[in-house]
Amino acid sequence: MIQDIKDILFSEEEINNKVREIGEKISSDYRDKNLIIVGVLKGSVVFLADLLRTVKIPCEIDFMAVSSYGKSTESSGVVRILKDLDDSVEGKDVLIVEDIVDSGITLGYLLNYFKTRKANSVEIATLLNKDGRRRVDVPVKYIGFEVPDEFIVGYGIDYAQRYRNLPFVGTLKPEVYEK
Ligand code: IMP
Ligand code: MG
Repeated sequence: MIQDIKDILFSEEEINNKVREIGEKISSDYRDKNLIIVGVLKGSVVFLADLLRTVKIPCEIDFMAVSSYGKSTESSGVVRILKDLDDSVEGKDVLIVEDIVDSGITLGYLLNYFKTRKANSVEIATLLNKDGRRRVDVPVKYIGFEVPDEFIVGYGIDYAQRYRNLPFVGTLKPEVYEK
């Protein structure tokens, strides 16, 4: 697994420090709110689990799974819900947690979705941001790190469902995905 990694972008320690920083901001920003953290499966799971333990105010969690068609080919921008929320978010302050914001198509869809579900507020926290690739302009309130336009894996993020268990974030050697 490790032999497929080109560069380590962010170490375990760097990620931990950043996650704690974001957790502190969330704890203060949402002090008088009705916070529900919504993870986008599966990539956000590791980030969400760590972030959750740095949030020092009452909160709920829930999960959604979505598929964005044409990810590897040309994106049609069609997003489909594979797993919906368990409970209503009406009147709640939703914080969507993502692993990477890339084109913004997935989050653009989810933002609208939560608004129609009458959430009191909707914000986004992402571990990684690929700013240069945006096709839909989405406001991201909490960003861990900016990353270059390269294929990223680790800390929950996969290539073909693998590498999620790496404790750091790194780039994949091109020969691995060009095979
Ligand atoms: P988008 O913003 O709708 O284009 O989709 C973002 C999603 O694409 C992320 O949640 C990831 O699941 C996936 N993604 C984008 N870039 C990468 C990458 O470099 N490695 C792995 N998954 C990625
Ligand atoms: Mg994802």
